[in-house]
Amino acid sequence: MAKNVNRNLEVFDMRLGAQDGSLINRHAYFDESVFERELGAIFNPSWQFVGHESEISQPGEYVTRKIMRDEVIVARSENGEIHVMLNSCRHRGVKLCSADGGKATNFQCAYHGWTYATDGRLRGVPESPTLHPSGIDRSKLGLHKARVEVFNGLIFATFNNDAAPLLDVFGDMSWYLDTVFKKTEYEAYGPPVRFIGDFNWKSGAENWCGDPYHGDVTHHTGYVAGVSYLDDMQKHVTDMQAMGAVVTNEQDASGETVFVFTADGGHAGLHFRIPAEFDRPVFPGLEKHLWTEIEQNASPDLVAGADRRIVCVSTTFPNFSVVEQLITNVGDDEFPAVSVVNVRVWLPLSATQTEVWSWLIVPKRATPAWKRASQRAFARTFNVGGVFEVDDSHNWNTTAQANRGSVGMALDNNYTALPEEPTPSSVFRGKVYRGPLHDVNFRSLYSTWVERMEAKPEPVTLVGFKTEGACEL
Ligand code: FES
Ligand code: FE
Repeated sequence: MAKNVNRNLEVFDMRLGAQDGSLINRHAYFDESVFERELGAIFNPSWQFVGHESEISQPGEYVTRKIMRDEVIVARSENGEIHVMLNSCRHRGVKLCSADGGKATNFQCAYHGWTYATDGRLRGVPESPTLHPSGIDRSKLGLHKARVEVFNGLIFATFNNDAAPLLDVFGDMSWYLDTVFKKTEYEAYGPPVRFIGDFNWKSGAENWCGDPYHGDVTHHTGYVAGVSYLDDMQKHVTDMQAMGAVVTNEQDASGETVFVFTADGGHAGLHFRIPAEFDRPVFPGLEKHLWTEIEQNASPDLVAGADRRIVCVSTTFPNFSVVEQLITNVGDDEFPAVSVVNVRVWLPLSATQTEVWSWLIVPKRATPAWKRASQRAFARTFNVGGVFEVDDSHNWNTTAQANRGSVGMALDNNYTALPEEPTPSSVFRGKVYRGPLHDVNFRSLYSTWVERMEAKPEPVTLVGFKTEGACEL
């Protein structure tokens, strides 16, 4: 018998928003009943990002993470495979591993000592012959495991048996993620940073679909402090010339300098590249030896996609966001500008609290000095104390706080800007909308959200629960 995890979803008569995602009722940002529904309708069916494979590069290495409310161990087993397993002893449910990460040959429970291999198999049961004279079937008592897919080094997992393969879910979004993570090899630079914000997860996920509208206002102080090129494009061109690129035409012939994009499934993002042409591909903020490597080794369509790009920010539905952005390093003579790749998960704890898990990802073959420079740029911008993060969190926090009253909660948030007029593109995938100021990217996320929230809930079959009581390992 299948286990139905949509326990709370029998009746839900609240109007959540317009079908096209242009208006979203503010209950969506602080109402716990909406959040409970999201767990079943949005999150349980989804793939969740749990880490980068470089974090567990050696057999026996592991990290502990979360898939919504379920704590998991992400481990590389003795044969090199990656496993994502519930961090809960099969005996009486004690949390098996309390460390953030490390290296182990076994996981031993602190209560009665049941011991599990790094692939989840139950290896040891103390006093088993005495306690279970007729034997105990260890094959059915291994750690409960999720499905795992690794995409460009990014580890995703789901406990949903019925979820479509990862690349089918990502659709055209996978190409944009390829332009970040496949053009060269990347690795995590240290463990993820974690912080809890008093905002709804959608406030972060929506903003990371690309919201240049807020930049000059929200991040004015940061721009004044010189952390971004976005207010000085000519300086970009000048600096790129100083790094060896030759400008051949000040005009951008492609017409695709700044655009937002959407991909079926609620994914969306913003793409921003230098408005000038160079005589060879330019990868701003990376060291020149990587320019050569990318140009020679990456596929032509990825080179064309990443060429001249200074910002690519996106949210892969529902809560996985990535930014690759050129950041200025004021006072750094060696690396006055470096790119920062920040990967993050908006992990909802409740309707009004979100735990942000945030990784700095760097090109594996960048020099140590460049990686440190990227870390400094990250610390000043997107890290928990960075100017972008502080600025944005303030807005998101007040969205959750300012509308809890009986009047405020009756209103809608507005995503009506500009009609949808996609531009044909020979390079870029999905639908491309020229110019920076659209709401079509937000409508992509929210129309999918409304559709799934209002659909009749489908039972979700949990991995390992096809047959009552059995655990497939
Ligand atoms: Fe883990 Fe008993 S609860 S061994
Ligand atoms: Fe921002």
